[in-house]
Amino acid sequence: MSRTYTVLVAGLGKRGMHHASAFQGNPRFEVVGLCDIDASRAEAAAAKFPGAKCGTDSAALAKELKPDVFCFATLPNIRMPLIQAGIDCGAKLIAYEKPIATSTREARQIMDLTRKAGVKTVVSHQHRYGVHYQKVKAIIASGAIGRVHTVYGHATGWMMHMMTHMIDYAMWFNDYVEADWAIAQAAGRGKFADIHRSPDYIGGLVQFKNGVRGVFETGAGAPDVPEVDYWWRKCRIGAQGTEGFAEALTGGGWRAITRDSGGVISGEGCMNYDNDMPPYIEDMAKWLDDDTAVHPCCGENAHKGFEVMMAMCRSVVERGQIALPLPDGAPEIDALATAVPERPVLLSMEANRKEYPG
Ligand SMILES: NC(=O)c1ccc[n+]([C@@H]2O[C@H](COP(=O)([O-])OP(=O)(O)OC[C@H]3O[C@@H](n4cnc5c(N)ncnc54)[C@H](O)[C@@H]3O)[C@@H](O)[C@H]2O)c1
Repeated sequence: MSRTYTVLVAGLGKRGMHHASAFQGNPRFEVVGLCDIDASRAEAAAAKFPGAKCGTDSAALAKELKPDVFCFATLPNIRMPLIQAGIDCGAKLIAYEKPIATSTREARQIMDLTRKAGVKTVVSHQHRYGVHYQKVKAIIASGAIGRVHTVYGHATGWMMHMMTHMIDYAMWFNDYVEADWAIAQAAGRGKFADIHRSPDYIGGLVQFKNGVRGVFETGAGAPDVPEVDYWWRKCRIGAQGTEGFAEALTGGGWRAITRDSGGVISGEGCMNYDNDMPPYIEDMAKWLDDDTAVHPCCGENAHKGFEVMMAMCRSVVERGQIALPLPDGAPEIDALATAVPERPVLLSMEANRKEYPG
């Protein structure tokens, strides 16, 4: 008989509630604690999970409840204190949101702490569970598009929201081979005022160690995906090979041309939390049961993608190619905020004019 794992969820905004519901919907987990610094949010959440204890101090509640899983879904500026709380309470697994950090230095500290503590980490790059992403991965892995030479991802959402999603899925299509170097440019300072501090637009190239080239863009200057209506799902992630291509549109299915397809083939799929969260949570139970069943969204994979994004940021500041792994350096986003030219970004589509006023 398999055991039930206890869970504490901290940060009960949009994503925290997604996590709490998905854990509660899986018989392998029991939500025993709910926490938010906003007491009204914690109480409102607790009303939906009658057995769970609620509080406003995550570290204290975690120490009291000693959950197997410490899950937190706070905004990107709050990571380290909650990672520490997860380690201190003895959690076996810490599940948290992208982006994993706001600088290379912070990301390294998180990885060092969690590796040393022997705690598993999982990061919410859960779009990959969509049937269209899975289909694209299966086509690429089957060899049907020949030798992959290029992987790519672009999104109209800005960098700290969307870039690690784009890089993570493209790196998955390239079997998480590490990067040799990155080169990038950026434009527009408007989104440095956002809590997901980013240039309005950033575009870059990445050279992976197996010779595959990565092409990534996020923000106002990124290409439109006219097949997709919903602005946040205007993302295209895929691979080109010597005999075809395969790509997923976050809000618009998949399409491909393969060696034997005789033209374009396509299918359904749309990013949907209700579909993507359950298998993402189920894979945590599998990894907790069996150390060899590593979660596809493990922190080690997320860290590789985050370093690529930070290398792109450093390229804007330092110019030229940036070799990976990165040496220690100043927090990238602060440096980027002054390096990006003050002139407004040139917008690529009408929908972006609404999202990036002025
Ligand atoms: N994976 C995805 O598909 C996806 C989608 C949207 C957002 N996100 C990410 O999820 C994260 C959270 O986004 P959101 O939209 O849910 O934010 P949100 O603002 O709705 O919720 C954050 C919550 O955290 C609480 N909080 C802040 N500090 C806390 C602390 N120390 N202890 C406990 N609670 C604390 C806040 O009071 C708030 O209720 C972000 O990093 C965002 O990038 C991921």
